[in-house]
Amino acid sequence: MRAFPVLLPILLLCAACSRSDADTISEIASLKAEIEQLKAARTASAAAAAPELGEQMLTLQIRHGRLWAAGHAQNWMLTQFQLAELRESLAGVVELNGDHAAMQPKRLADVLPAMVDPALRQMQDAVDAQDQAKFELAYDALTQACNECHKAAEHGFLVMQRPQTPVLDNLRP
Ligand code: HEC
Repeated sequence: MRAFPVLLPILLLCAACSRSDADTISEIASLKAEIEQLKAARTASAAAAAPELGEQMLTLQIRHGRLWAAGHAQNWMLTQFQLAELRESLAGVVELNGDHAAMQPKRLADVLPAMVDPALRQMQDAVDAQDQAKFELAYDALTQACNECHKAAEHGFLVMQRPQTPVLDNLRP
Protein backbone atom coordinates (compact mmCIF):
# COMPACT_ATOMS: atom_id res chain seq x y z
CA MET A 1 0.00 0.00 0.00
CA ARG A 2 2.99 2.27 -0.32
CA ALA A 3 1.75 3.40 -3.67
CA PHE A 4 -1.54 4.59 -2.19
CA PRO A 5 -0.53 8.13 -1.27
CA VAL A 6 0.75 8.59 -4.78
CA LEU A 7 -2.22 6.98 -6.48
CA LEU A 8 -4.88 8.70 -4.40
CA PRO A 9 -4.54 12.15 -5.95
CA ILE A 10 -4.43 10.59 -9.39
CA LEU A 11 -7.57 8.57 -8.66
CA LEU A 12 -9.29 11.64 -7.27
CA LEU A 13 -8.18 13.65 -10.28
CA CYS A 14 -9.57 11.05 -12.65
CA ALA A 15 -12.82 10.89 -10.72
CA ALA A 16 -13.01 14.67 -10.91
CA CYS A 17 -12.19 14.73 -14.57
CA SER A 18 -14.68 12.03 -15.47
CA ARG A 19 -17.37 13.75 -13.41
CA SER A 20 -16.69 17.00 -15.21
CA ASP A 21 -16.77 15.18 -18.57
CA ALA A 22 -20.22 13.91 -17.71
CA ASP A 23 -21.24 17.42 -16.62
CA THR A 24 -19.91 18.87 -19.86
CA ILE A 25 -21.72 16.27 -21.94
CA SER A 26 -25.03 16.88 -20.22
CA GLU A 27 -24.50 20.63 -20.40
CA ILE A 28 -23.86 20.38 -24.15
CA ALA A 29 -26.94 18.19 -24.55
CA SER A 30 -29.15 20.69 -22.77
CA LEU A 31 -27.67 23.59 -24.75
CA LYS A 32 -28.33 21.67 -27.97
CA ALA A 33 -31.92 21.10 -26.92
CA GLU A 34 -32.27 24.80 -26.13
CA ILE A 35 -30.87 25.76 -29.55
CA GLU A 36 -33.34 23.43 -31.26
CA GLN A 37 -36.21 25.01 -29.30
CA LEU A 38 -35.07 28.51 -30.24
CA LYS A 39 -34.73 27.51 -33.91
CA ALA A 40 -38.22 25.99 -33.94
CA ALA A 41 -39.68 29.11 -32.29
CA ARG A 42 -37.91 31.36 -34.80
CA THR A 43 -39.12 29.34 -37.79
CA ALA A 44 -42.68 29.35 -36.42
CA SER A 45 -42.68 33.09 -35.85
CA ALA A 46 -41.12 33.76 -39.27
CA ALA A 47 -43.84 31.65 -40.88
CA ALA A 48 -46.50 33.48 -38.90
CA ALA A 49 -44.99 36.85 -39.85
CA ALA A 50 -44.70 36.08 -43.58
CA PRO A 51 -47.74 37.51 -45.35
CA GLU A 52 -49.61 35.40 -47.88
CA LEU A 53 -48.35 35.88 -51.46
CA GLY A 54 -51.92 36.86 -52.44
CA GLU A 55 -51.89 39.63 -49.81
CA GLN A 56 -48.62 40.94 -51.13
CA MET A 57 -50.06 40.85 -54.66
CA LEU A 58 -52.99 43.00 -53.52
CA THR A 59 -50.45 45.59 -52.39
CA LEU A 60 -48.75 45.31 -55.78
CA GLN A 61 -52.11 45.86 -57.46
CA ILE A 62 -52.59 49.11 -55.56
CA ARG A 63 -49.02 50.27 -56.25
CA HIS A 64 -49.38 49.36 -59.94
CA GLY A 65 -52.59 51.41 -60.09
CA ARG A 66 -51.14 54.38 -58.23
CA LEU A 67 -48.07 54.42 -60.42
CA TRP A 68 -50.34 54.83 -63.43
CA ALA A 69 -52.37 57.62 -61.84
CA ALA A 70 -49.21 59.56 -60.94
CA GLY A 71 -47.46 59.11 -64.30
CA HIS A 72 -50.58 59.75 -66.30
CA ALA A 73 -51.03 63.05 -64.46
CA GLN A 74 -47.33 63.79 -65.14
CA ASN A 75 -46.78 64.38 -61.44
CA TRP A 76 -43.16 63.18 -61.64
CA MET A 77 -42.34 63.62 -57.99
CA LEU A 78 -45.27 61.41 -57.03
CA THR A 79 -44.38 58.99 -59.84
CA GLN A 80 -40.83 58.60 -58.47
CA PHE A 81 -42.33 57.92 -55.07
CA GLN A 82 -44.82 55.35 -56.37
CA LEU A 83 -42.10 53.60 -58.35
CA ALA A 84 -39.90 53.38 -55.26
CA GLU A 85 -42.83 51.98 -53.28
CA LEU A 86 -43.55 49.42 -55.99
CA ARG A 87 -39.90 48.33 -55.93
CA GLU A 88 -40.08 47.97 -52.14
CA SER A 89 -43.21 45.85 -52.38
CA LEU A 90 -41.58 43.62 -55.01
CA ALA A 91 -38.50 43.28 -52.79
CA GLY A 92 -40.84 42.29 -49.96
CA VAL A 93 -42.32 39.51 -52.10
CA VAL A 94 -38.84 38.16 -52.84
CA GLU A 95 -37.80 38.43 -49.21
CA LEU A 96 -40.84 36.88 -47.57
CA ASN A 97 -42.13 34.52 -50.27
CA GLY A 98 -38.91 33.73 -52.12
CA ASP A 99 -39.56 29.99 -51.89
CA HIS A 100 -43.31 30.06 -52.57
CA ALA A 101 -44.69 26.87 -54.11
CA ALA A 102 -46.22 28.81 -57.05
CA MET A 103 -42.99 28.85 -59.05
CA GLN A 104 -41.61 25.45 -58.06
CA PRO A 105 -39.28 23.89 -59.09
CA LYS A 106 -37.92 27.36 -59.87
CA ARG A 107 -37.43 29.82 -57.04
CA LEU A 108 -39.73 32.83 -56.98
CA ALA A 109 -36.74 34.74 -55.60
CA ASP A 110 -34.95 34.15 -58.94
CA VAL A 111 -37.92 34.34 -61.31
CA LEU A 112 -39.40 37.60 -60.06
CA PRO A 113 -36.35 39.85 -60.53
CA ALA A 114 -35.55 38.22 -63.88
CA MET A 115 -39.04 39.01 -65.16
CA VAL A 116 -39.60 42.43 -63.64
CA ASP A 117 -36.22 44.18 -63.46
CA PRO A 118 -35.90 45.11 -67.15
CA ALA A 119 -39.33 46.80 -67.07
CA LEU A 120 -38.47 48.55 -63.81
CA ARG A 121 -35.29 49.93 -65.39
CA GLN A 122 -37.27 51.11 -68.42
CA MET A 123 -39.75 52.76 -66.07
CA GLN A 124 -36.98 54.45 -64.07
CA ASP A 125 -35.54 55.92 -67.29
CA ALA A 126 -38.95 57.21 -68.34
CA VAL A 127 -39.62 58.81 -64.97
CA ASP A 128 -36.13 60.34 -64.81
CA ALA A 129 -36.69 61.76 -68.30
CA GLN A 130 -40.18 62.97 -67.25
CA ASP A 131 -41.41 61.66 -70.57
CA GLN A 132 -45.03 60.59 -70.69
CA ALA A 133 -44.82 58.61 -73.92
CA LYS A 134 -41.89 56.62 -72.51
CA PHE A 135 -43.77 56.26 -69.25
CA GLU A 136 -46.74 54.66 -71.02
CA LEU A 137 -44.50 52.24 -72.92
CA ALA A 138 -42.66 51.31 -69.73
CA TYR A 139 -45.96 50.88 -67.92
CA ASP A 140 -47.18 48.41 -70.52
CA ALA A 141 -43.85 46.53 -70.30
CA LEU A 142 -44.21 46.34 -66.53
CA THR A 143 -47.80 45.15 -66.80
CA GLN A 144 -46.70 42.51 -69.29
CA ALA A 145 -44.02 41.34 -66.83
CA CYS A 146 -46.70 40.93 -64.13
CA ASN A 147 -48.80 38.91 -66.55
CA GLU A 148 -45.91 36.77 -67.80
CA CYS A 149 -45.26 35.70 -64.24
CA HIS A 150 -48.92 34.95 -63.65
CA LYS A 151 -48.82 32.71 -66.72
CA ALA A 152 -45.62 31.04 -65.55
CA ALA A 153 -47.29 30.38 -62.19
CA GLU A 154 -50.34 28.87 -63.92
CA HIS A 155 -52.40 31.90 -62.92
CA GLY A 156 -52.74 33.21 -66.48
CA PHE A 157 -56.34 34.21 -65.73
CA LEU A 158 -54.95 37.05 -63.57
CA VAL A 159 -54.51 39.72 -66.23
CA MET A 160 -53.33 43.17 -65.20
CA GLN A 161 -54.00 46.15 -67.47
CA ARG A 162 -53.79 49.94 -67.55
CA PRO A 163 -56.27 51.16 -64.95
CA GLN A 164 -59.50 52.51 -66.39
CA THR A 165 -60.38 54.37 -63.20
CA PRO A 166 -58.26 55.18 -60.14
CA VAL A 167 -58.03 52.40 -57.54
CA LEU A 168 -58.58 54.97 -54.82
CA ASP A 169 -59.26 58.58 -55.66
CA ASN A 170 -58.50 60.13 -52.31
CA LEU A 171 -54.78 60.58 -53.12
CA ARG A 172 -54.41 63.52 -55.52
CA PRO A 173 -52.52 62.34 -58.61
C1 HEC B 1 -43.16 35.91 -59.30
C2 HEC B 1 -44.25 35.96 -60.24
C3 HEC B 1 -45.21 37.11 -60.12
C4 HEC B 1 -45.00 38.40 -60.47
C5 HEC B 1 -43.74 39.04 -61.02
C6 HEC B 1 -46.25 39.08 -60.22
N1 HEC B 1 -47.16 38.23 -59.73
FE1 HEC B 1 -49.05 38.71 -59.15
N2 HEC B 1 -49.37 36.80 -58.59
C7 HEC B 1 -48.46 35.78 -58.68
C8 HEC B 1 -49.05 34.56 -58.15
C9 HEC B 1 -48.37 33.20 -58.05
C10 HEC B 1 -50.34 34.90 -57.73
C11 HEC B 1 -51.37 34.01 -57.04
C12 HEC B 1 -51.17 34.17 -55.55
C13 HEC B 1 -52.01 33.25 -54.71
O1 HEC B 1 -52.05 32.07 -55.00
O2 HEC B 1 -52.58 33.75 -53.74
C14 HEC B 1 -50.51 36.32 -58.05
C15 HEC B 1 -51.68 37.01 -57.80
C16 HEC B 1 -51.89 38.34 -58.12
C17 HEC B 1 -53.11 39.06 -57.92
C18 HEC B 1 -54.41 38.49 -57.35
C19 HEC B 1 -54.39 38.72 -55.86
C20 HEC B 1 -55.69 38.32 -55.22
O3 HEC B 1 -55.59 37.60 -54.21
O4 HEC B 1 -56.73 38.70 -55.70
C21 HEC B 1 -52.91 40.35 -58.32
C22 HEC B 1 -53.90 41.49 -58.30
C23 HEC B 1 -51.55 40.43 -58.78
N3 HEC B 1 -50.95 39.18 -58.66
C24 HEC B 1 -50.94 41.57 -59.25
C25 HEC B 1 -49.65 41.65 -59.71
C26 HEC B 1 -49.04 42.84 -60.24
C27 HEC B 1 -49.72 44.19 -60.39
C28 HEC B 1 -47.78 42.50 -60.59
C29 HEC B 1 -46.73 43.35 -61.26
C30 HEC B 1 -46.41 44.62 -60.69
C31 HEC B 1 -47.59 41.11 -60.26
N4 HEC B 1 -48.75 40.63 -59.74
C32 HEC B 1 -46.42 40.43 -60.48
C33 HEC B 1 -47.20 35.83 -59.20
C34 HEC B 1 -46.58 37.00 -59.65
